[in-house]
Amino acid sequence: MTSSSRLLALDALDRIDRDGAYANLLLPDLLGRSDLEARDRNFVTELVYGTTRMRRACDFLVDRFVTRELDLRVRNALRLGAYQLHFLGMPPHAAVGETVEVAPKLARGLVNAVLRRVSGAPVTWPDDATRLSYPDWIVEHLVADLGSEDAIGALEVMNTAPGVTERADGYVQDLASQWVADAVGATPGERVADLCAAPGGKATALAAAGATVVAADIRKARVGLIRGNAPELPVLAADAARPPFRPGSFDHVLLDAPCSGLGTLRRRPDARWRIDAASPERLAVVQRSLVDAAVPLLRPGGTLVYSVCTLTEAETTGIDDHLASSSPQLVSLAPPAGPWDPHGRGSRLLPQAADTDGMYLLRLRAPA
Ligand SMILES: C[S@@+](CC[C@H](N)C(=O)[O-])C[C@H]1O[C@@H](n2cnc3c(N)ncnc32)[C@H](O)[C@@H]1O
Repeated sequence: MTSSSRLLALDALDRIDRDGAYANLLLPDLLGRSDLEARDRNFVTELVYGTTRMRRACDFLVDRFVTRELDLRVRNALRLGAYQLHFLGMPPHAAVGETVEVAPKLARGLVNAVLRRVSGAPVTWPDDATRLSYPDWIVEHLVADLGSEDAIGALEVMNTAPGVTERADGYVQDLASQWVADAVGATPGERVADLCAAPGGKATALAAAGATVVAADIRKARVGLIRGNAPELPVLAADAARPPFRPGSFDHVLLDAPCSGLGTLRRRPDARWRIDAASPERLAVVQRSLVDAAVPLLRPGGTLVYSVCTLTEAETTGIDDHLASSSPQLVSLAPPAGPWDPHGRGSRLLPQAADTDGMYLLRLRAPA
């Protein structure tokens, strides 16, 4: 790896941390403006995404040997070094020497001394949240909701880079999302309302299967993303809490609701540090109002498909419990085949079951 790529990784870490830049937007932009070779680009990506995910664990490794306040760039240089040593298993002469070179001049002695100690010292992690590098609340919340074994398994998988899966039409989409679109079960010519559709992943899959899809999203800028992905699709900006459609006019309504996103943390390396502990409960309030508004759109015998890329009880079985009392006329459809696990009347896909995003799916049918 050249020194310009290490410098680029350190600059990216500073901007993610200091300016709140989104790693998955910032990095492609920085790499696009660099003249690095493909191999170096991949390595910078691994360093930036990995160090961002493992920030808390790296801080623990480093802080054992630091006794004073560090400025952010020095701290990020130490995190970068610790990540290479501990998580990439790079030999100390490379990881330490190369990281010291890009550290701020006045701190190079300190970075060198600390990383040398990190490289030689055995590690005893104080707890799972530090070892797996998540905020305490995420570990506690998922352990409470999933049980320890499933939660730790999910958190471990979400520390690895996601695979890239491409559909037959070239759209890149995680398999879990492809399965949700399949689970809508729309046949050619059936009318589908996708009420939270941007950027259009599931809407385009449904249209490709021959369904007549109307795609809506509350955010105008995100509606533009759907247009970009599917110029032929009817799209509109609309609040799914007040959908501007005739009651009883759809064979299927897909509500791929805004959620805490705790099933997709591997895809967004900085998300774990951004999402706040109140978000599952706050979003469950929104989700309840959206499912209630979706039900009247179903024609007799039509199906409601509710999905979220998260695993919290509030946003999954909590929404099903709500629907069971607000719309008791709806009956549940059989869960899709494995790797989904039946979960209440719906189904859950843990990230470790098939190396995908974590997802929840609920399919309910209106009386004929
Ligand atoms: C999980 S994403 C949808 C992903 C999309 N279905 C796909 O497969 O590409 C949730 C979307 O819901 C939108 N949203 C949030 N609140 C909404 C509301 N009240 N009405 C409609 N859309 C909303 C967000 O802007 C976001 O684009």
